[in-house]
Amino acid sequence: MGMCCFLYLIYLLCSLFDPINAEKFDYPIANVSTTWTNSLALEHSVNFTDGSSVRAILLRGATGFYGPSFACGFYCNGNCSSFHFAVFIVYTNSGSRITNPNLGFPQLVWSANPNKPVKENSTLDLTKGGLALRDADGVLVWSTNITGSNIVGLNMTETGNLVLYDSKNYTLWQSFDDPTDALVPGQKLVLGKSLTAMANKAGDNSFALSVTNTGLFASINSDPPQFYYQEEVTGTKNSTKPSYVRFRNGSLALFILSAEPNKPDSVISTPLASSMQYMKLESDGHLKVYEWSDLSGWIVVADLLTGILAECGYPLVCGNYGICSNGQCSCPGPLGTGGDDNTTFRQLSARQPSLGCSRITPLSCEDTKYHRLVDLNDIMYFYSPPDITRTDIGSCKNACLTNCSCEAALFQYGSNSSDGDCYLPTQVFSLVNNVKEETHYNSSAFIKVQVSPVIPSSSPSSDPKFKTAGTATIVGSSVGATVGVSLLVFVILFLIRKKKNVEEEDDEEYLDLVPGMPTRFAYEDLKLATNNFSTQLGQGGFGSVYEGALINGTKIAVKCLDGLGQVKKSFLAEVETIGSVHHVNLVRLVGFCVDKTHRLLVYEYMCNGSLEKWIFPKTEEHILDWKTRQSIISDIAKGLTYLHEQCRQKIVHLDIKPQNILLDANFNAKVSDFGLSKLIERDGGEVMTTMRGTPGYMAPEWLSSVITEKVDVYSFGIVVMEIVCGRKNLDRSQPEERMHLLRLLKEDKGCNIIDKNSDDMLLHREETTEMMKVAAWCLQSDFARRPSMSVVVKVLEGVMEVEPSLDYNFSSGITPMTTAKDLDKQVQFRDSTPLLPSLLSGPR
Ligand SMILES: *[C@@H]1O[C@H](CO)[C@@H](O)[C@H](O)[C@H]1NC(C)=O
Ligand SMILES: *[C@@H]1O[C@H](CO)[C@@H](O)[C@H](O)[C@H]1NC(C)=O
Ligand SMILES: *[C@@H]1O[C@H](CO)[C@@H](O)[C@H](O)[C@H]1NC(C)=O
Ligand SMILES: *[C@@H]1O[C@H](CO)[C@@H](O)[C@H](O)[C@H]1NC(C)=O
Ligand SMILES: *[C@@H]1O[C@H](CO)[C@@H](O)[C@H](O)[C@H]1NC(C)=O
Ligand SMILES: *[C@@H]1O[C@H](CO)[C@@H](O)[C@H](O)[C@H]1NC(C)=O
Ligand SMILES: *[C@@H]1O[C@H](CO)[C@@H](O)[C@H](O)[C@H]1NC(C)=O
Ligand SMILES: *[C@@H]1O[C@H](CO)[C@@H](O)[C@H](O)[C@H]1NC(C)=O
Ligand SMILES: *[C@@H]1O[C@H](CO)[C@@H](O)[C@H](O)[C@H]1NC(C)=O
Ligand SMILES: *[C@@H]1O[C@H](CO)[C@@H](O)[C@H](O)[C@H]1NC(C)=O
Ligand SMILES: *[C@@H]1O[C@H](CO)[C@@H](O)[C@H](O)[C@H]1NC(C)=O
Ligand SMILES: *[C@@H]1O[C@H](CO)[C@@H](O)[C@H](O)[C@H]1NC(C)=O
Repeated sequence: MGMCCFLYLIYLLCSLFDPINAEKFDYPIANVSTTWTNSLALEHSVNFTDGSSVRAILLRGATGFYGPSFACGFYCNGNCSSFHFAVFIVYTNSGSRITNPNLGFPQLVWSANPNKPVKENSTLDLTKGGLALRDADGVLVWSTNITGSNIVGLNMTETGNLVLYDSKNYTLWQSFDDPTDALVPGQKLVLGKSLTAMANKAGDNSFALSVTNTGLFASINSDPPQFYYQEEVTGTKNSTKPSYVRFRNGSLALFILSAEPNKPDSVISTPLASSMQYMKLESDGHLKVYEWSDLSGWIVVADLLTGILAECGYPLVCGNYGICSNGQCSCPGPLGTGGDDNTTFRQLSARQPSLGCSRITPLSCEDTKYHRLVDLNDIMYFYSPPDITRTDIGSCKNACLTNCSCEAALFQYGSNSSDGDCYLPTQVFSLVNNVKEETHYNSSAFIKVQVSPVIPSSSPSSDPKFKTAGTATIVGSSVGATVGVSLLVFVILFLIRKKKNVEEEDDEEYLDLVPGMPTRFAYEDLKLATNNFSTQLGQGGFGSVYEGALINGTKIAVKCLDGLGQVKKSFLAEVETIGSVHHVNLVRLVGFCVDKTHRLLVYEYMCNGSLEKWIFPKTEEHILDWKTRQSIISDIAKGLTYLHEQCRQKIVHLDIKPQNILLDANFNAKVSDFGLSKLIERDGGEVMTTMRGTPGYMAPEWLSSVITEKVDVYSFGIVVMEIVCGRKNLDRSQPEERMHLLRLLKEDKGCNIIDKNSDDMLLHREETTEMMKVAAWCLQSDFARRPSMSVVVKVLEGVMEVEPSLDYNFSSGITPMTTAKDLDKQVQFRDSTPLLPSLLSGPR
């Protein structure tokens, strides 16, 4: 992996400096009578490190432009045995080439065959009659199907539209007319068309976003559809002209019936674009706006359909029948609410409550007399149809019990339960906890269940021993019960409970082998905990990080380590070492997984993400005040002091940078990824086969072959400087003379470069200037002159002074400008205190 990293670095360096007359790969137009075969022979094939590959056919780039461009071609992700013919956004360099497999992963914005992938050697024909996609066996999978046309060419336009035009340049077909799950700026979603996305939870559900002549709606595909977002236009409109929404810069504007041309009837605002954006209907029903950021790649800048119910307003947030409360999922009935009974619902997966619930006994229309309703108070539903029946609560329940296709009765009312809205859905998705203070109405849900003939329903609800902690009890017509039967039931339930407790104990023992030590997880468990690695939090030098949750609801971050070939045999020992390191300013390792080829680390979840997004903010509201910045700096210093000087085994981090500093809910900073360099790749002795770390944060001695923990002190200095100045050390968007922060510090000793976007920073001039001195001290070219981290902590606490005679003649460290030749070194590991024999792994 090290070698790959290194080659990649060279690759990166090369791609940054294109020869001026690099061959141009801008080919946005194709003429008729062309056939492309989906194989590696396609000129522009790139494998990305996120597992996707593209084989571009047309690309609309711009010379001298680095950034996202539109392209069309074959696309695959993961197991690349099946492909889509698609329009995607991909990062290109100044020669309009797709070069960087690690940056700007292709973003699909349209696909010809979303549900019918094709194989290797499938073909795309461009003829006078249009486009035709055939699978490798010649079977027609998709075509534009324009009759009597006389197409002359195919154009990948600047706006991301794939256009077939005739000899008069008249558009005969365009991809914009057939959206799949995404819209790009300028694109319309017209009446009768919709964005659709398959749901990521079990079942064949899908989400749709569509326009009618009364508004914009998001629905889940039950029969009839149930809506979870409705943007309705008020007032009577009476026209047959088509309505549509258009994604514009700053809005998703709904144009209905063209009352006035170009004046939308309703506008859902989206963030103003500072670079390329697109919006996508996701497999969880969200409609998210993504924007390209040179710093962080594609980031989500808006989540458009989320209403007052927040996450709980999405139909499948807790699967079928799951009850969503503050983002946590439970099941209806006694089992889900922690009580004694086990007769209604069970979780599909104990480890992943959000997958939903299923009836323990399926409903049967033959046995309707054994139908009962589980009574859930203060539970509501995301949807209630407009033409709902008003009735009383008893009739509502009865209407459900007497109609076999009814799965639940949902009743909402003000103060009088004799007068409310009754909805009888034939399919039930996630339920929501009703917060009366917000909704100002009462809501109850009655879920139909099948009871087996032997269990009398009256006993559990009348016997206090069967009362549950929650609000759920079984109601319904009573079947005569004898004391004997209820006693029997009680004994059975008691035994079942005992068994359950024993099982739970076993489970806990498995989860917590040694107190304080990281837990060993099974791969399948982590797969479940992360919903099959569906939510990526980030991508680091060692692998991707995914969000997840343990059974008890604790959120976790799961890191999948790459470079498996080189994982050391001592993996377990090293994990134990890392797991034994506990400090408030270090991200805690909760567990790990070693399973065949999989190596994963499980960390505590830090809800404010990495420092990077806070110190290089995109919006004004994200700007941190001086006090917070100060405490973050101090937290990092304490974390590093612990690693270098206080824990049982010295740990040199080697990759300190804002991305590796995480923030919790209260903006306490914690250092992450420490010790990882020990898990991977250092082969035994003192010699590093390649350099580690991130250009821009690496100390100059990486070029001179002696590496000590002072490399971390140097990187810390860069990070301090970036925090105080609110910008990156190397910022290419700045004019040449201001591009390097370090050079500016050299010139004016830090007085004029602090973050001027923040008034608060300007108010603390003296302290910020002092902090820049700390940074300068840490950045001394001679590593022996840099302070140790414990000295830095003392200075920050005000009990020590910064060394007065600082050398401001910084050497620039390793930046992305450093040439590949310079980096071709083998690096020695040494301690700064020569008396200690070894450090990285040596005991102290
Ligand atoms: C397409 O045809 C036009 C005019 O016939 C020609 O100028 C152009 O070079 C052709 N493009 C390609 C890619 O063959
Ligand atoms: C991409 O991966 C495929 C199969 O994994 C490989 O055959 C191909 O050579 C790779 N292409 C490039 C451009 O690296
Ligand atoms: C890739 O997908 C094909 C067909 O869907 C399947 O047969 C094959 O086992 C998969 N390979 C891997 C490595 O998942
Ligand atoms: C694709 O076609 C080429 C050339 O005909 C052939 O060599 C190759 O085996 C085919 N690949 C697959 C996966 O069928
Ligand atoms: C093309 O469209 C015609 C009518 O518009 C339809 O009958 C035919 O089935 C379509 N062909 C394909 C391959 O979709
Ligand atoms: C292709 O699209 C671009 C807009 O992106 C337009 O300027 C150009 O005229 C189009 N070319 C043809 C041949 O239609
Ligand atoms: C079509 O568009 C191309 C490129 O924009 C232009 O060169 C050509 O003259 C146009 N043809 C007609 C008939 O307008
Ligand atoms: C509304 O539309 C109906 C039928 O399309 C038409 O008969 C009626 O006159 C229209 N009313 C108005 C106010 O335009
Ligand atoms: C979007 O609009 C804002 C404000 O009008 C403007 O500053 C920005 O450049 C626009 N972005 C794009 C990509 O057009
Ligand atoms: C039962 O409910 C379904 C769906 O709500 C409805 O279409 C049907 O008419 C009802 N049947 C009776 C007999 O009420
Ligand atoms: C509740 O509503 C019913 C029917 O509308 C009415 O008869 C009854 O008086 C109301 N009860 C109260 C307390 O308002
Ligand atoms: C609840 O019932 C299910 C299915 O009958 C059974 O598998 C499960 O073990 C029961 N749970 C308990 C705690 O008894």
